[in-house]
Amino acid sequence: MIAACIDDFRVLAKTRLPRFLFDYIDGGSYSEATMRSNVADLQALRLRQQVMRDVSAIDLSTMMMGRKVALPIALGPVGLAGLNARRGEVQAARAAEAKGVPFILSAVSCCSLEEVTGAVSGPVMLQLYMIRDRDFMRDLLGRAAALGVDTLVLTVDLAVQSARYRDVRSGLAGVQGIDTQLRRFSQIAARPGWAWDVGVRGGPHTLGNFAPVMKEGAGLSQFLAWVGRNFDASITWKDLDWIRQHWSGRLVIKGVLDPDDALAACDAGADSIIVSNHGGRQLDGAPSTIAALPAVAKAVGGRAEILMDSGVRSGVDVLRALALGAKGVLLGRPWAFALAARGEAGVAAMLDLLRHEMAVAMALTGQTSIADLSPDILLPLNT
Ligand SMILES: Cc1cc2nc3c(=O)[nH]c(=O)nc-3n(C[C@H](O)[C@H](O)[C@H](O)COP(=O)(O)O)c2cc1C
Repeated sequence: MIAACIDDFRVLAKTRLPRFLFDYIDGGSYSEATMRSNVADLQALRLRQQVMRDVSAIDLSTMMMGRKVALPIALGPVGLAGLNARRGEVQAARAAEAKGVPFILSAVSCCSLEEVTGAVSGPVMLQLYMIRDRDFMRDLLGRAAALGVDTLVLTVDLAVQSARYRDVRSGLAGVQGIDTQLRRFSQIAARPGWAWDVGVRGGPHTLGNFAPVMKEGAGLSQFLAWVGRNFDASITWKDLDWIRQHWSGRLVIKGVLDPDDALAACDAGADSIIVSNHGGRQLDGAPSTIAALPAVAKAVGGRAEILMDSGVRSGVDVLRALALGAKGVLLGRPWAFALAARGEAGVAAMLDLLRHEMAVAMALTGQTSIADLSPDILLPLNT
């Protein structure tokens, strides 16, 4: 099957990944209402078709997180992406670099920071959660700076972990026993291509950055349990002082939906703020990010760069987010699925698709430059 659109990569990934892994990526918290509304609210926004405006030269390049980028898009942090394809984070980082967009490595990646930074020539960005063990955090920040990481993305919407029913049903979350192991084993056996590519040839199967603090041979479910125990639920804005003491590079705060929180992030020294509900994987019932974006952008009023993620599934969606105040968007599931479907080439193809869709949407809304996008390109609902 040829992937004609972003959603096709999801279909392909489903045929390639063991069921528990597909569900881990695809799922959201509880009823998944917020996850669905991320996509639906974006798609409900109507664009204003404007014609006869010389759209023969369209420039999609812009600045994002202090960098010149070919598209206003970054590959957002996706934990355990290295399970989607052999040495998955390396493949995705290479595709991002080739297409001129930033790659944000999740702290909870399979490939270590050293492996990923060694595989690309430009700087990689690192995402981190507040970990209880501050010595470990300090070491990791030091490692990152020494490896040329210039941007730290601190994710703040995971003080506690929400539940995903799909992970409970698949046995990925919850009490582990011989039955859950057998179920996973049979799902792996049903996907021999993945078992060979990732299971046999894709090792070592460790959590690259956390290998020093996790038991050797720890699997996916042990890792998820470790996250629950070691992420710091006592974090407040004051803790950003600690981050600032140990990190002198660019600081991006990810996981803000509320204007008051956005202002607090500005006060705490954030250079960029990512309006995000973690792809609908945390607070079910929270608004979609596209609904939350305008109020956050208005409150911040240029004090920090505003980015958005959650629910972006096409180049048209990128335009919608930019029209409502985002300077760029992050992708989560789309690149995770493209990686699972076709590896590095899949992620590159997905970025090409987005580029093409964006260029068409720009042309047909009469726009030629990212800097000119404004709410003017949207129409009120029910038009
Ligand atoms: C499988 C999976 C793992 C994720 N892991 C992380 C992570 O380690 N750190 C983080 O900040 N966000 C993580 N996220 C959230 C994404 O960075 C992003 O906010 C979200 O996926 C955007 O929504 P989308 O998937 O609809 O594009 C993860 C998302 C998924 C789907």
